[in-house]
Amino acid sequence: MTPFEHASRTRLVFGSGRIHEIGRHARELGFRRTLIVSDAGMQKAGHVATVLSALAGEGIESSPWSNFDANPDSQMVEHGRDFASKLNVDSIIGLGGGSSMDCAKAINIVLTNGGRIQDYWGHGKVPGAMLPMIGVPSTTGTGSEAQSYALISDAATHVKMAIGDEKAAFAVAILDPEVARTQPRAVRAVAGYDAISHAVETYVTTKRNALSLCYSREAWRLMEGSFERLMADADDVEAVAEMQLGAWFSGAAIEASMLGATHALANPLTAVYGITHGQAIAVMLPHVVGWNEHPDYMELHADLPRRLRELADAAGLACSLQALGVAEDRLPVLAEAATKQWTGKFNPRPLDFDSALELYRCAY
Ligand SMILES: [Fe+2]
Repeated sequence: MTPFEHASRTRLVFGSGRIHEIGRHARELGFRRTLIVSDAGMQKAGHVATVLSALAGEGIESSPWSNFDANPDSQMVEHGRDFASKLNVDSIIGLGGGSSMDCAKAINIVLTNGGRIQDYWGHGKVPGAMLPMIGVPSTTGTGSEAQSYALISDAATHVKMAIGDEKAAFAVAILDPEVARTQPRAVRAVAGYDAISHAVETYVTTKRNALSLCYSREAWRLMEGSFERLMADADDVEAVAEMQLGAWFSGAAIEASMLGATHALANPLTAVYGITHGQAIAVMLPHVVGWNEHPDYMELHADLPRRLRELADAAGLACSLQALGVAEDRLPVLAEAATKQWTGKFNPRPLDFDSALELYRCAY
């Protein structure tokens, strides 16, 4: 068996209504002046107000900041750092989808350790201490709340950088289904499918270990059963809760096992065509699973590519590159970019130029 070690850096708080406990957790972590990184949708849904009032109840000052978008880049991170720096904050809360949480981590890194976020591209490059953070996910998707990684694009080159450091993990993550149930249907579709792909990809990577397999298997079990229910009815709180916990488990699996060829192929589609991450994943995942032909996939489902297509259909996601407006003559350029993606290195079958092109053609 693959040797590994495991230390949980994040206290997981799970259950309906538990966002109201955020003031107590913040106080226990010593928060006095905090930055709340949260998108405009969270403000509209009333979650920012809930957090502000819970923090005020504990005498903690807080300032919301939302000057970023769904694909946070280095420039947005610098704006957030300047905002936080003037306030002299001693803590950060990420409230929202993956972009809010990744932004919170990245702002924390440059605020406490200086320089530009590009300087930290890779793993373990943050030398000094960081501010304590709390994460509250509002989508059932990225699993960023379970990880020490942030995905930030370089504002000049548009290259997506994975920046990871043990110190960038949240001290507390609050998973409240009442928060996640307010995500719009389109977000439920792409974020949920992305979370499912994390369970599937992590299950067979070359870096998987006994513990990551537990997380991947349970993530798949929870989400395969609840994704279609969530797509049919946003008020099915049990389905929201199962997806939310599933997304956490698959995020925890990524932390140990990394991802595979599906993510390597999806990233250039987002960079070149602006296709939403979960949608790009939905087109590529069934093809990659079929191409990997990994015997362990039988443990998840007897006909996994077919089941993955069914789940994408239930979410109304497009299933071909052509339907997404990708030009056929650009496939070689995309394949070249896919082979340069770090995440592809962990796929059980090596992803070279020819196989990347073949997979794009199959998905066309
Ligand atoms: Fe993903």
